[in-house]
Amino acid sequence: MKKRIPHLLIQGVLIAGLTTGLVFAQQKSSVARIKIDTDRTIGQIDKMIYGNFIEHLGRCIEGGVFQEGSPLSDANGYRKDVFEAVKGLQVSILRWPGGNFASGYHWEDGIGPRNQRPARLELAWGTTESNRFGTHEFLNYCELLGTQPYICVNLGTGSWDEAKFWVEYCNVKGGTRYSDWRRKNGREKPWGVVYWGLGNEMDGPWQMGHRSAEDYGRFALEAAKLMRWTDPAIKLIAAGSSNYGPGVDWIGWNRTLLDSLKGYIDYLSLHRYVGNPDNDYYEFLASSQDLGEKTKIAQGLIRAALADNPQRRPIYIAWDEWNVWYRARGEKERGREILEEKYNLEDALVVATFLNTFVNNAHIVKMANMAQLVNVIAPIFTNDKDLYLQTIYYPLQLFANNSQGSALDVFVDCPTYKTRKYGAVPYLDVSAAYDNGTLVLNVVNRHRDQAMEVAILSQQGEFAGNFEVAEVNGPDIKAENTFGSAKVQTTRKSLSVKGDHFAYQFPPHSYTMLKGALR
Ligand code: AHR
Repeated sequence: MKKRIPHLLIQGVLIAGLTTGLVFAQQKSSVARIKIDTDRTIGQIDKMIYGNFIEHLGRCIEGGVFQEGSPLSDANGYRKDVFEAVKGLQVSILRWPGGNFASGYHWEDGIGPRNQRPARLELAWGTTESNRFGTHEFLNYCELLGTQPYICVNLGTGSWDEAKFWVEYCNVKGGTRYSDWRRKNGREKPWGVVYWGLGNEMDGPWQMGHRSAEDYGRFALEAAKLMRWTDPAIKLIAAGSSNYGPGVDWIGWNRTLLDSLKGYIDYLSLHRYVGNPDNDYYEFLASSQDLGEKTKIAQGLIRAALADNPQRRPIYIAWDEWNVWYRARGEKERGREILEEKYNLEDALVVATFLNTFVNNAHIVKMANMAQLVNVIAPIFTNDKDLYLQTIYYPLQLFANNSQGSALDVFVDCPTYKTRKYGAVPYLDVSAAYDNGTLVLNVVNRHRDQAMEVAILSQQGEFAGNFEVAEVNGPDIKAENTFGSAKVQTTRKSLSVKGDHFAYQFPPHSYTMLKGALR
């Protein structure tokens, strides 16, 4: 049955019984509608979209997840406080060892007794790599966390042999040179690492071993064959586009490597970082439009590549590096305390819109890794004594812990604003997940100053009982967190909802998750 918009909202005035937003609701407001139909599904949300990434870069690993000799660390050197904060994010998959670092990394340097491992000049980020955190430290960490490991092999300065032997070291039971070497190094059982990346950002001139699309396609294909023959159960991720500079043919890059690698790969990796260098709030808040557009283009390229044989191994998109990153960028990228971006509320809202975009493309985006996890463009920030949760931690935490099941194709009708790059952009950015009678609605109100009155209508079934309301917001769009002060965080309350519609007022510059029964 078709549902009517509640009369009182059509009139565009404050509704009786309207539920106001949490702490930061303001005076003026606009009206909008969100319609939910549980039959209109986009696809199953893969929990792998709530992944992260750790790289040998700055203080991400050493001084972040791993700090030997610290009173805050356990006997393995893992920071216990960081581990607890990481657990809060329900990290489904963790990518390692890079990033740009991966393109110069020789994994054999990072195994065996820690004190005997060689220190090496590290050319991606201009430091010395101690190699004290290597394959065992990473894979054991993943095991403790209960997260899937994802290893990116070196297709920059590395060889096919190195890549294939790494798979053998990690995944073969025993009785071969590399599997027995693993056992000798203290790990009897293979780890069975499923996810393997075929190099990192090979389209970027900044990459060690940067290649043309044709050369990369050919080189990666041989690596893929040897790795898969070593362990047929692995899944392979090809290094798609990361370079969107002026005049760069990023579409051609993806097209070429899909043609070379189809039949072997399972994912096309894409990277996207955004920022607000011109301090233009509304333009910045619209960045996810570009992410959505690139996702659709990549989906088209994948379809085209598989068109000659639709039975071929399916290929999905892995946004395996994404985040806000622009302040700690450029010439500051050499040395130790680098890429230490401090996030504010507007960044957290952009992160929420990126997560909405992944959910809204759940049929094709089957993996995403926020770059990175600790200190380096990260949701968790440490010093030697403490840590705090950056603003971007909160949306990721809410999505990862709640938005599961089927992604719903939600109808949204709301006012828009004009942008230079993306044309008209809706003030509301929305996604919805539906799992076993539980609805999760994610709503970002991009409006900086006005609350948005929204009629939320169900086309199927009724809302019932208490809805959990979790809101990420702060006193102003530039509010940041720091040690001992969390100006931006999640505040919670509950809302009693009955029937096939209800109204809610989303405060300005907020991300709100509404969760409750719809049956
Ligand atoms: O995440 C930081 C860096 O960004 C990664 O090393 C690289 O892959 C990308 O350019």
